[in-house]
Amino acid sequence: MNPFLCAIFLLGLSSLASAANFTQVFEWNNLDYEWPSDARRAQALENGTFKAENISPLYMAVYGSRLFLSLEKNIGIPVTLVSLPTNSASTAPPKLTPFPSFDMHGNGNCDKIEWARGLKVDSVGRLWMLDRGSDNCQSKIWTIDLINNDHTKLIHRFSFNDWIHDLVLEETPNGTFAYISRWYRTHIVVFSLERNQSWVVDTLGIQFYSIALPPKDQEPRQLYLGKFYSNELYSIPVAALHNGTLTANPKLIRKWTAIDSYSMLMDNHGTMYAAFWSKNYISSWNSSQPFEEQRFHEVAGLSSPWPFTFALDQSGNFWITVNDRSKMPRLRLLKAEVGVKSYIFEASPAFRSPPCFLFPSPDVTAADVTGQPSLIVRPPILNQQLTGVGLEIDSWATVGFVDSGIIFASPSKLIFGMLSTLNFKNLQELA
Ligand SMILES: *[C@@H]1O[C@H](CO)[C@@H](O)[C@H](O)[C@H]1NC(C)=O
Ligand SMILES: *[C@@H]1O[C@H](CO)[C@@H](O)[C@H](O)[C@H]1NC(C)=O
Ligand SMILES: *[C@@H]1O[C@H](CO)[C@@H](O)[C@H](O)[C@H]1NC(C)=O
Ligand SMILES: *[C@@H]1O[C@H](CO)[C@@H](O)[C@H](O)[C@H]1NC(C)=O
Ligand SMILES: *[C@@H]1O[C@H](CO)[C@@H](O)[C@H](O)[C@H]1NC(C)=O
Ligand SMILES: *[C@@H]1O[C@H](CO)[C@@H](O)[C@H](O)[C@H]1NC(C)=O
Repeated sequence: MNPFLCAIFLLGLSSLASAANFTQVFEWNNLDYEWPSDARRAQALENGTFKAENISPLYMAVYGSRLFLSLEKNIGIPVTLVSLPTNSASTAPPKLTPFPSFDMHGNGNCDKIEWARGLKVDSVGRLWMLDRGSDNCQSKIWTIDLINNDHTKLIHRFSFNDWIHDLVLEETPNGTFAYISRWYRTHIVVFSLERNQSWVVDTLGIQFYSIALPPKDQEPRQLYLGKFYSNELYSIPVAALHNGTLTANPKLIRKWTAIDSYSMLMDNHGTMYAAFWSKNYISSWNSSQPFEEQRFHEVAGLSSPWPFTFALDQSGNFWITVNDRSKMPRLRLLKAEVGVKSYIFEASPAFRSPPCFLFPSPDVTAADVTGQPSLIVRPPILNQQLTGVGLEIDSWATVGFVDSGIIFASPSKLIFGMLSTLNFKNLQELA
């Protein structure tokens, strides 16, 4: 299919993305783990090594039908990485399943998961997890192969412990790099998977907490970095980080309205999302445009220091946990179909056939993807576009593709456009 054609549907979708429509998947009044046995749970409650009320999500990743959360390491939190299903036949909220297993967790044991922090899934289905370590153990990185029996590997030990927050992954023809924020230190950390090496890049006195990477097609690709006690957003060109550069000169590029951005994320069309300490909203900014902060999602009455975790999955859903320390429900999981994916996935495959037919949007439905493909497109997507050139489709429009073009059909009109030159000016009314 002609890439341009798909671009039409994307135009329609992008206007929807800002009006993301979240639905609730689960809500929890009480959070608990799936314990290996009732006896262990009872004993842990009794000896104080488990305090359910202290369970509090930090970061999120989603892959396939599983969602992963890292948890704040409070008193009474024996496990800091859990999984839960993204849907369930029952509306009862699922228990948090220790991931990859209960016994892979252990504080003060350098070969176990001690304190999971930033999480990301790469393009081949590996969950990457930062582990803060402990007084006795250095910080480390784990990968868990989600499509290969959750095969778990401790891939790297850093030369430091503590002050390690979030990460982003960059997959280049020269290998995979992780960039890691370390607030309270005036550097970021670069890890090269192929070389199994990490090094620090000095940031000239600036400390960064949140970190985000735009999609591959942004040139030159920048690493975005946010701060605590500040509303400033900085960037560093990533090319300079590959080759062992030891000093970066972060450039101040924007200011959010709020201070303390603790978590940031970019989608594969270049929109950035950011959450802030004690703020009841997630902001967004379309990085292809001059800075304009928008409210992506807001929760009335939310009062919590670390109110949200969020992630995008591979099929175009935006996932959010809403963490409320002051009232029930304690935690809610929300989901919206936004039609964009994580920055790790190229946007361009969506422009190719056949994935073009698979847009997960309620407004574009694959009516028939076998044989002669056709789509049903609901106004106002087409309506908006077509009225601009004096055409109007006032009701459901069926769109069919023939060899050389596209046919839009509505109850009153049949309109043809050539694929090769398709723009909204050369559509012809056939009937
Ligand atoms: C972001 O801005 C670009 C350039 O103006 C535009 O093409 C794109 O549709 C916008 N994305 C969204 C999600 O609005
Ligand atoms: C959200 O979904 C509901 C139910 O499908 C619908 O009534 C409402 O118009 C949608 N809102 C937006 C902004 O899309
Ligand atoms: C508390 O109970 C748990 C569960 O059996 C056990 O693993 C842990 O070692 C106990 N800790 C202490 C300090 O007794
Ligand atoms: C990578 O380096 C770590 C030390 O940081 C070492 O423990 C591990 O064995 C190395 N992995 C490989 C595959 O060489
Ligand atoms: C890969 O490495 C080569 C040689 O160092 C360099 O010229 C090239 O720009 C690098 N490519 C990327 C995408 O970083
Ligand atoms: C690394 O790359 C940056 C930017 O591409 C360049 O300015 C710098 O000289 C390079 N350093 C080395 C050691 O090659």
